[in-house]
Amino acid sequence: MTALKEYVEGKVTFVGPDIDHYTDSAGQPTASLPVFYNPRMAVNRDFSVLFLTTYMRDRDITRICEPLAGTGIRTLRYLVECPGDFSAVMFDANPLAVEVARKNVQLQRLEGRARVIHGDAKLLLLTESRERRFDFVDIDPFGSPTPYLNAAIQSIRPREGLIGITATDMPVLCGVYPHVALRKYGGLSMRTPVTHEIALRLLVHRVYHVAGMNDFSVRLLASLSTDHYVRIWMSVRREKHVANRQTRDIGVVLYCPGCQAVQVRSIQDLARQDTFEHETPECRQEARIAGPLWTGPLFDRHFMQSAEKAMTKGAFEFTRRTHRLFDRMLAECQHTQYPFYDVHVLCDMRGLSPPAIEDVVTALVEQGYLAARTHIRPTGIRTNATAGAVGKIIEEISRG
Ligand SMILES: C[S@@+](CC[C@H](N)C(=O)[O-])C[C@H]1O[C@@H](n2cnc3c(N)ncnc32)[C@H](O)[C@@H]1O
Ligand SMILES: [Zn+2]
Repeated sequence: MTALKEYVEGKVTFVGPDIDHYTDSAGQPTASLPVFYNPRMAVNRDFSVLFLTTYMRDRDITRICEPLAGTGIRTLRYLVECPGDFSAVMFDANPLAVEVARKNVQLQRLEGRARVIHGDAKLLLLTESRERRFDFVDIDPFGSPTPYLNAAIQSIRPREGLIGITATDMPVLCGVYPHVALRKYGGLSMRTPVTHEIALRLLVHRVYHVAGMNDFSVRLLASLSTDHYVRIWMSVRREKHVANRQTRDIGVVLYCPGCQAVQVRSIQDLARQDTFEHETPECRQEARIAGPLWTGPLFDRHFMQSAEKAMTKGAFEFTRRTHRLFDRMLAECQHTQYPFYDVHVLCDMRGLSPPAIEDVVTALVEQGYLAARTHIRPTGIRTNATAGAVGKIIEEISRG
């Protein structure tokens, strides 16, 4: 292995591989890294520290697990930056990663609270939780998290636990390979301006099903889509009657590339309705379908309000991007039952140059609509107005 380099992230100093030697043309670390570390994922880890801290405001945490640990930076940040003296166990199948993660535990003098075990995550999740289940499991793989979900759910405390899940297989989740998405996530993905929201909803859908298979219900606390990944934080509990009721949050998204109409149909509705209403009566484009997927809210409002308090109180050292994204999440967290529209796409349809996104939000609110920017797409506005109504407002702004 090449010489290790020292990094600082959040409040933790640690060692990892010299990533400058192993990045692709887009600056992303490649699979050739002897031990995986991606500094751009600092935003993901910032939010993970914030949301675990938030979760701990109301609940006791005694034991957490990171089954795909790499250098261990994520767990070290939990141990150093979140309150409490919970313990942690990390796994990795790569012996070099285990060596580096152990070194980092020693550097932080955390040997009393953290253990690193070499082996396969799926097996270790089950064996290491046999005596005592985990309060929090963080699945942060390279690619799809689906192979680890069943063991992860089974390793969590049945009374209630937290699960954080990252997916980086974006070509699958974003509609380049919709049939692979159907196989892995149980729903078709779709290439549209709302593709990243569909990616999030497909991931939630898969977790809902794996949890449901094990008689657990899910509560989606927060969602994140940025860079080349999506991430969700969910609390899960063994209560099958709640999981049964949650079937009403499973449905499909219909989208017309002609007029930008987006419609959400629950599985129950699909049985009743067979027509798609276009935004413009003359539009004859065929609507496209994504799903089945999760159609419920993407955030828990109370959890996000608590996260806002934790953010203000905590002396975190988060990146500027983390703060910017968090502000957008707070603005949209009450409105995720509505789709978002891409202002630039609506402008292209009308041959208009795009106005400032904030001006469109203000005009929508002035006309009595709910409207907020979304963290998922810089040019997106989430609103209860139709695509046609948003288009009209853009035309009015352009006319001055
Ligand atoms: C994306 S990296 C983890 C990054 C880390 N969570 C972080 O925040 O920096 C994925 C890790 O999973 C490990 N891995 C892959 N398959 C595994 C398996 N079946 N069991 C355990 N570890 C595995 C890889 O060696 C790699 O270190
Ligand atoms: Zn249409």
